[in-house]
Amino acid sequence: MISQSTIQQITSRIDIVEVVGEYVKLKKRGANYLGNCPFHNEKTPSFTVSPSKEIYKCFGCGKSGNTIGFIMEHEKFTYVEALKWLAARYNISIEETAVSPEVKQQQQTSDSLYVINNFAQQHFSKNLFETEEGRDIALSYLKQRGFREEIIHKFQLGYNLEQRDDFTKAALAHQFNPELLVKTGLVVLRNELPVDNYRGRIIFPIHNPTGKVTGFGARVIKSTEKAPKYINTPENEIYVKSRLLYGTYFARQAIDKLDECLLVEGYTDVVSLHQSGIENVVASGGTSLTVDQLRLIRKYTSNLTIIYDGDSAGVKAALRGLDMAIEESLNVRLVLIPDNEDPDSYVNKVGVSAFRSFIDTNKKDFILFQLEVMLKDAGNDTIKKAEVVNQVAETLSKIHRPEDFTKLQDYIRQCSGILKIEEGGLTTLVNKLKRDKVTKEEKRNASHSPLDAPTDDLQNAEPDINALLNNDEAQERSVIRVLLEYGLKPWDDEKTMAEYIFEELQEFHFENPGMEKLYEIYRNQYEEGFQPTAKSLLYHDDEEVRKIVVNINIVPFELSLNWDKIMEGMNINNRDVSRQDVLMSVNYFKLRKLKKMFEENQRDMEKSVSFEEQINLMKIHKVLKEEEQKITSQLGTVILK
Ligand code: UTP
Ligand code: MN
Repeated sequence: MISQSTIQQITSRIDIVEVVGEYVKLKKRGANYLGNCPFHNEKTPSFTVSPSKEIYKCFGCGKSGNTIGFIMEHEKFTYVEALKWLAARYNISIEETAVSPEVKQQQQTSDSLYVINNFAQQHFSKNLFETEEGRDIALSYLKQRGFREEIIHKFQLGYNLEQRDDFTKAALAHQFNPELLVKTGLVVLRNELPVDNYRGRIIFPIHNPTGKVTGFGARVIKSTEKAPKYINTPENEIYVKSRLLYGTYFARQAIDKLDECLLVEGYTDVVSLHQSGIENVVASGGTSLTVDQLRLIRKYTSNLTIIYDGDSAGVKAALRGLDMAIEESLNVRLVLIPDNEDPDSYVNKVGVSAFRSFIDTNKKDFILFQLEVMLKDAGNDTIKKAEVVNQVAETLSKIHRPEDFTKLQDYIRQCSGILKIEEGGLTTLVNKLKRDKVTKEEKRNASHSPLDAPTDDLQNAEPDINALLNNDEAQERSVIRVLLEYGLKPWDDEKTMAEYIFEELQEFHFENPGMEKLYEIYRNQYEEGFQPTAKSLLYHDDEEVRKIVVNINIVPFELSLNWDKIMEGMNINNRDVSRQDVLMSVNYFKLRKLKKMFEENQRDMEKSVSFEEQINLMKIHKVLKEEEQKITSQLGTVILK
């Protein structure tokens, strides 16, 4: 891990206008800078950079973040890579902190696995080109399938010889640890003896997005064998199938440039299309797409085109991923390749220009495609047709980001056209489903204690409509906001605002797990003598924390809270309103939580059968009531001040 002090050095040097300005032509507009968004095509600039808040936000596509986030997004770097890039830029030497023994162990294992894979890749390539068996059996097979040497080199394809331990012997002679060799999947134990696992197979190295070999796919040559067609690397420290897509490394730039990612099923499809000059292509390996894979694609583009053969099981698998893709805000299109061909065989059969035009003319919007399939199924059956309408509305209700609003309206128009129903009716239905989802979420939040609150629906960088409707969150965000904004200022002669907030909220919890985390991180840092601020936490190594901080900076006041207007009024004379802001935030937070405790207490009273318990609950009721009165009267004096 990069040490906190290095991160501080980097962040203190960062000038967001200068860094972003290298990629985007920026013009000063008031306190901010404005330019054309580098993440989507636009003619009128809506990309805003705020030097004082150190954040950027595009009001066209909704992308937002800090300087590090910008570099990550633009260069497709990880957090650490972005920090290293900035450190190099500002000539700051990087100090790494001591890590726990387990993490260190895991890092060492990962490093070793990469070294072994790299060695293996070279060994297999050499076998392919420089041994008689490799050339006669494997290379000639690849060539006969139409792969030329150039593309074989580019994808670093190789060959594992037939003999039982050619690779194993070479690896052991190279002093590699036998246990790690087994971990890579390249070596297996047969009667306790280590032997090659991929004997007589063509080797497809699988690269991570930065080009390191994380694993392999190994294909048999003689298809008559009973053995499985492909053997793939088992899951290990560096090979996690659900997070990888074959070909990402070679496709990244083309995907970025063309703003579209083609998805095929197989290794050979990727290599073949590349050879034909179609380079924005990755493969899923035939399984249904995972959220992580969709997010990987989403890093490069929001346009995904799935190209599968018409009757493959893969189509069904991909269909299952549709709703997830929509929630990730991807525009999904589908092309089915005819006649039992796959992209590899089809491009070889018809040539690249016919292939391209086939894709272009047969690309179908996935939502509309699914609708047509379901409608055909339903035929004249009115009950089934009603089900189809519900199904489509359900899918459309998953389009939830504010910036996708026009897209949603477009879909509603097209779908109601296809279904021959009123546009208004479909709109109402979609909105109802959206509302139901929000209510359900609220209920779920209310019925969970903060300790077992779900951790999966974390705060999003985008101000989600649902989130704005969720009141608990509004109060919680407000407390975090004042903490970040005024925490280090004095409350009175004895304590800071942060200390006041800690004291007041001692007995309370945040419902939102992300905010609870941020609150705890702030408190820990504060108590350890650091001086946490919005800016320092903008660079925290936890992505979720960074997102919340950015979000709070962008939407400083909650639309649903009524005191922003009061605050605004107070602020007219440039008075320092921090004290009032803190007081109100803390007290509204408490009121909200008290109200919930009331409700809970009420429910307990209704359920309670024992007299003693009832008395106890009534006592609690009284205490809560008093507490509430204290707060309201305090709030009253604040507002009247
Ligand atoms: P295909 O059977 O379509 O193979 O499986 P392919 O890629 O077109 O290979 P060729 O053209 O017959 O040589 C599609 C993908 O599914 C995964 C692989 O990733 C393969 O590329 N697969 C298939 C396996 O992992 N194991 C198998 O046994 C078969
Ligand atoms: Mn094939």
